[in-house]
Amino acid sequence: MQLSSKPLLILFTILNLHCLIVSASTCHPEDESGLLGFKSGITSDPSNMLASWKAGTDCCTWAGVNCLSDNKRVTSLSLSGQPDVPNSFLSGIISLSLSKLRFLDGIYLQNLRNISGSFPTFVFQLPNLQFIYIENNRLSGRIPETVGNMTRLSALSLAGNRFTGPIPNSISALTQLTQLKLGGNLLRGSVPDGIRRLQSLTFLSLEDNQLTGTIPDFFSSFTNLRILRFSRNKFSGRIPPSISSLAPKLSYLELGHNYLTGQIPDFLGNFKALDTLDLSSNRFSGTVPKSFGNLTKIFNLDLSNNFLVDPFPEMNVKGIESLDLSNNRFHLSEIPRWATSSPIIFSLKLARCGIKMKLQDWKPVETYFYDYIDLSGNEITGSPVGLLNKTEYLVGFWASENKLRFDLGELKIVKTLKYLNLAKNSVFGKVPNAVAGLEKLNVSYNHLCGQIPKTKFPASAFTGNDCLCGPPLQPCKS
Ligand SMILES: *[C@@H]1O[C@H](CO)[C@@H](O)[C@H](O)[C@H]1NC(C)=O
Ligand SMILES: *[C@@H]1O[C@H](CO)[C@@H](O)[C@H](O)[C@H]1NC(C)=O
Ligand SMILES: *[C@@H]1O[C@H](CO)[C@@H](O)[C@H](O)[C@H]1NC(C)=O
Ligand SMILES: *[C@@H]1O[C@H](CO)[C@@H](O)[C@H](O)[C@H]1NC(C)=O
Ligand SMILES: *[C@@H]1O[C@H](CO)[C@@H](O)[C@H](O)[C@H]1NC(C)=O
Repeated sequence: MQLSSKPLLILFTILNLHCLIVSASTCHPEDESGLLGFKSGITSDPSNMLASWKAGTDCCTWAGVNCLSDNKRVTSLSLSGQPDVPNSFLSGIISLSLSKLRFLDGIYLQNLRNISGSFPTFVFQLPNLQFIYIENNRLSGRIPETVGNMTRLSALSLAGNRFTGPIPNSISALTQLTQLKLGGNLLRGSVPDGIRRLQSLTFLSLEDNQLTGTIPDFFSSFTNLRILRFSRNKFSGRIPPSISSLAPKLSYLELGHNYLTGQIPDFLGNFKALDTLDLSSNRFSGTVPKSFGNLTKIFNLDLSNNFLVDPFPEMNVKGIESLDLSNNRFHLSEIPRWATSSPIIFSLKLARCGIKMKLQDWKPVETYFYDYIDLSGNEITGSPVGLLNKTEYLVGFWASENKLRFDLGELKIVKTLKYLNLAKNSVFGKVPNAVAGLEKLNVSYNHLCGQIPKTKFPASAFTGNDCLCGPPLQPCKS
């Protein structure tokens, strides 16, 4: 008995050890097979994102795969392409074999750019799924009405795809959602009224679609909303009154590039947490409310391309970062004091704002951070040479249609500069060689003279000067 039981015990121990080793070194076979199925749906992976995904190795160690530590079941799949790296993408489809990953609580497939196919309906079969971020890919077709089945979802982002059709009404059943991001698609129709039931939302973005109708007046229930992005659609009508109930917490209110009308409501001045307000490119009329003087913490204000009139309120903001009041009916006379005194401003756009001043008299406290300055279509005299001499990172300077008078040869063209427009002023001197490095140049209709340096710009960039010559204009007389 003793003799015979010993080898058995050893055998049992070996088997047991073997089991332990197996379970410690590989993930659940269903998960492995589900992931390999996903990999086989990928037709091209030029940056080798999935190189570590090899059959027979522990799938918990594969790039983008996360497991629970106790049972080694896969809980999330998270693959993302790097935005500015050309080959950092995946082509193919999202294989339905991912439905084998029963423990999955999050799918994050972001910036993969070339994943196509329709909405992956297998997600309805994943009982634990809470987070879906399938962003910046090429998925198309409709968002299925059955999306409302996933009542456990905390976040749904399908931003940056090619989804068409309406936003399904059933989305109102996803009452646990804290984030709903459907921006950057081809969605049509109006905003379903049922979205009012999603009272836990902190982030609602529908921007950059083809949505129509009015912005629903349903915001009184959204007490936690911090980010509201409805820009770049076809919304009409007024800003609904219930938006006022978002005052305590809302940081981003973006309604730009729609067909909104009426006055800018006074209550926006009460938005104590507002960081960014974009009402640009709509049809707002009337004055900007005096209450804007209370927006002391606003960083980004864009009211450009509306029909707004004087007087512009005195703002009390200490550090605006970007300001665009271009193309309204303002007669500001000067660049606003609160922009001039901002220590952190990087973008100032005041095209056609009725500014009448000598540019040398403008003494901004900070010029170092400036990326963009647009003063087109004002009555500005003098020279930008001193101003541009003080910038380090300037990318664009637009000052066409003013009364600037200076020698172009003295202008410092910083390495970062890409866009320079000085058309329709009284600029004289020669065109410096350094402009050849710009992406866009326009010095037409000035008093420039001499041979044009070799550049890629068309004749219309140089036309209308006193005596500029050489390609792309007529040859110089020798
Ligand atoms: C993107 O995917 C499509 C369809 O799968 C394919 O035809 C195309 O070649 C892919 N593009 C790149 C850049 O790989
Ligand atoms: C969604 O839920 C409905 C009703 O509960 C059910 O009939 C339907 O089969 C579900 N659809 C999917 C795709 O799970
Ligand atoms: C700014 O806020 C204060 C207190 O919240 C209020 O009394 C005042 O009327 C507001 N100013 C404007 C111009 O709305
Ligand atoms: C530009 O700046 C340099 C030093 O930073 C200075 O020497 C020069 O005089 C300035 N030119 C103009 C026109 O302000
Ligand atoms: C330059 O500006 C003039 C006058 O505004 C315009 O007619 C012309 O098309 C512009 N050319 C380029 C290349 O921007």
